[in-house]
Amino acid sequence: MNAIELLKADHEKVKSLFKQAEAEGGNNWELFKKIKEELDVHTHIEEEILYPRIKEVEELTDIVLEGVEEHHQAKVVMREMEALSKDSEKFEPKMMVLMENVEHHIKEEEEEMFPKIEKLIAEEELEELGRRLEAEKRSFSRKMTGRAAK
Ligand SMILES: [Fe+2]
Ligand SMILES: [Fe+2]
Repeated sequence: MNAIELLKADHEKVKSLFKQAEAEGGNNWELFKKIKEELDVHTHIEEEILYPRIKEVEELTDIVLEGVEEHHQAKVVMREMEALSKDSEKFEPKMMVLMENVEHHIKEEEEEMFPKIEKLIAEEELEELGRRLEAEKRSFSRKMTGRAAK
């Protein structure tokens, strides 16, 4: 899988979790935990591997900088959600805001950022980036599970 295919597959997974959350409504903490795990690892590999590589390309600098801020917004909302009491009335509205923000961000990556990357970066390098994203995904998830077990 090349880098773009891998990241799009992650996006699909997140979007299907969002659909589930919308359908179920209420304070679904289990689902939120899953969504947060997915987004944590996804934003991490983008920021560690993809973004630094493409930020140097003049045409992509602004969209990368905006992407980092959008990741930051999502992290702030998720941190706030984690601090809520289990029955908080703020859970659902924050979940809605999180979903809207992330869906907007995914749309920008897929419609603006990724097509430019595909135009500017050769297929062999996209494959190589895909392998690095995959490896980082595995090692980051291992670290996270290790931390959770402590
Ligand atoms: Fe992103
Ligand atoms: Fe993404």
